[in-house]
Amino acid sequence: MSTRNILVTSALPYANGPLHLGHLVEAIQTDIWVRFQKMRGNQCIYVCADDAHGTAIMLKAEQLGITPEQQIANVQAEHLADYQGFNIGFDNFHSTHSEENQHYSNLIYERLKANGHIASRNITQAFDPEKNLFLADRYIKGTCPRCKAEDQYGDNCEKCGATYSPTELINPKSAISGATPIAKESEHFFFKLPEFEAFLKEWTRAGHLQDEVANKLAEWLDSGLQEWDISRDAPYFGFEIPGEPNKFFYVWLDAPVGYMASFKNLCDRRGDLNFDDFWSKESSAELYHFIGKDIVNFHALFWPSMLTSAGYRTPTAVCVHGFVTVNGQKMSKSRGTFINASSYLQHLDADYLRYYFASKLTNRVDDIDLNFADFLQKVNSDLVGKLVNLASRTAKFVQKAGGVLATEIDNPELWQPFVDAADSIAQGYEQREYAKVMREIMALADAANEYLTAKAPWSLAKEPGKEREVLAICTQGINMFRVLMTYLKPVVPALTERAEAFLGHELSWADELTFKGGVSLNEFKPLLTRVEQKQIDALLETNQAAVAAAQPAATAETSAAEMEPIAETINFDDFAKVDLRIALIVKAEHVKGADKLLQLTLDAGEGKTRTVFSGIKSAYQPEELEGKLTVLVANLAPRKMKFGLSEGMVLAAGPGGSELYLLEPHTGAQPGQRVM
Ligand code: 2FM
Ligand code: ZN
Repeated sequence: MSTRNILVTSALPYANGPLHLGHLVEAIQTDIWVRFQKMRGNQCIYVCADDAHGTAIMLKAEQLGITPEQQIANVQAEHLADYQGFNIGFDNFHSTHSEENQHYSNLIYERLKANGHIASRNITQAFDPEKNLFLADRYIKGTCPRCKAEDQYGDNCEKCGATYSPTELINPKSAISGATPIAKESEHFFFKLPEFEAFLKEWTRAGHLQDEVANKLAEWLDSGLQEWDISRDAPYFGFEIPGEPNKFFYVWLDAPVGYMASFKNLCDRRGDLNFDDFWSKESSAELYHFIGKDIVNFHALFWPSMLTSAGYRTPTAVCVHGFVTVNGQKMSKSRGTFINASSYLQHLDADYLRYYFASKLTNRVDDIDLNFADFLQKVNSDLVGKLVNLASRTAKFVQKAGGVLATEIDNPELWQPFVDAADSIAQGYEQREYAKVMREIMALADAANEYLTAKAPWSLAKEPGKEREVLAICTQGINMFRVLMTYLKPVVPALTERAEAFLGHELSWADELTFKGGVSLNEFKPLLTRVEQKQIDALLETNQAAVAAAQPAATAETSAAEMEPIAETINFDDFAKVDLRIALIVKAEHVKGADKLLQLTLDAGEGKTRTVFSGIKSAYQPEELEGKLTVLVANLAPRKMKFGLSEGMVLAAGPGGSELYLLEPHTGAQPGQRVM
């Protein structure tokens, strides 16, 4: 088979927050596929980048008191560390805020324009007169026009599920400044997607998409395509549109171009790759985008149309996966199941999750559930109990016999299915049917374990004169382990590396299909430990703390009315984790440049004071607070704010604005006392 040239991408994570399980399932799915292709001798290049533009990133940087450039650099470093921790083997990880991306975004836009595929017209949108900013729907909040629930987003009500336009909201407010939005007109630029209807009807049915995805798109195509607004007004963190001062490309215009930009950056660094070989219309290379089901329209409608108009090749396939759920439910910050990559890595081995996700992934769009009981059971029973056990049950007998495998195979009929499985396993990987591949590998592991259990070399070893037989059985055991480890190599790279150190060579697909006799083994060290429940408990605990620290302190930045509703009960242990203390407000001061904050100096009986920034300025004059007692969340992780470090949070009630009431204990309570 001739080698294939393949370019693979996974979706570019936004540079405004940490990686979580949703990013990981995709990165793991993609990385397994890429490692498999590389192992098969194909040239397979895997690129990604941070998606660095847009309002959210601009506001996040502002909130942190740093420049957007600093923000994206910080996040990029975190993302890279997390990806590395999960052994995601990118060939390049770049940024959409890059020279290459500006070059290709401008070029593509100019080609679209030259082809008559760009329209412009004035539109009216909500505008924040205080921030001088046009407001996307999610930045407008108000009362639901249907059920009258307060504090609902500009496009849908979380309470009653109504969808509406922000102009229908009762008492709308900018979620950024609290100001009442006004309607304002400005010129926008549109990509004329309807002109691609015929092309898309064909392309979406030409084998580039999973059937269920193509069916969904057919519904959209049948109900008629809309022109796509690709511009945003200043201030916006992104690329200014050539020839249109103060107009910027919408983040989703330059995001997929980031795939090209990252690849171009790699070409320039490597020298042996040619951009046009992969992107020109005539390219014979393959191009795969791995994405989640929420961004199908961008990848399977807009992107192929843009590429076609601009004279580039279109994707070979867009591979869509579902969402991650945890214990059967949507990931939730309040339930502590919104799990960050870095929290996971503090407590658990990356290969566990790689294997677990592999055991659940198919080429369909179904959601993928991480059930922790199942995770523990599957990792321990499959990876440790079945696979690693093949080596740990046999290695010491080979060592005792001098560390060299026997030359003859003990049971050729048992060995043959291990070799024969190669094609079906390869096909499974190719088609992203990883769950099926994992089942095939584990079925073989079962057969291998049954053989060892029946032959019981550990008993034979106690009988005199059985040395040859013991070595023959264990040689077969090690060979079966070796070939299964080879099949599993794309999934568990770190475990594979340890197995390779023991086996004395790098595992490669074709070579491992022959029985290896007479070779010597290295010292056997435990390859993988079992997962323990306490590690999972610790993960959930760390994660809850990390998520709480990343959330704005309720009184510091968000009005009380913006807090999450009380949704569910917690047990006493959960409650007991929150260290509530009585604190004396020693000093209260205005904070220069802050609209909502007061700086409080608190004595919580610790022998030193603490500083807490609290968003209660609209309700209190600093002098009224000094000398009062209040309640402090004492073990909230310190939070770096624009104005300094906030060491905890004080509790207040009320809807917000001037109606905010700091909690105060009855007379007699003393600073430092625990609130229970
Ligand atoms: O949905 C997201 O997280 C986007 N940042 C994905 C971008 S993928 C590509 F188009 F850049
Ligand atoms: Zn409603």
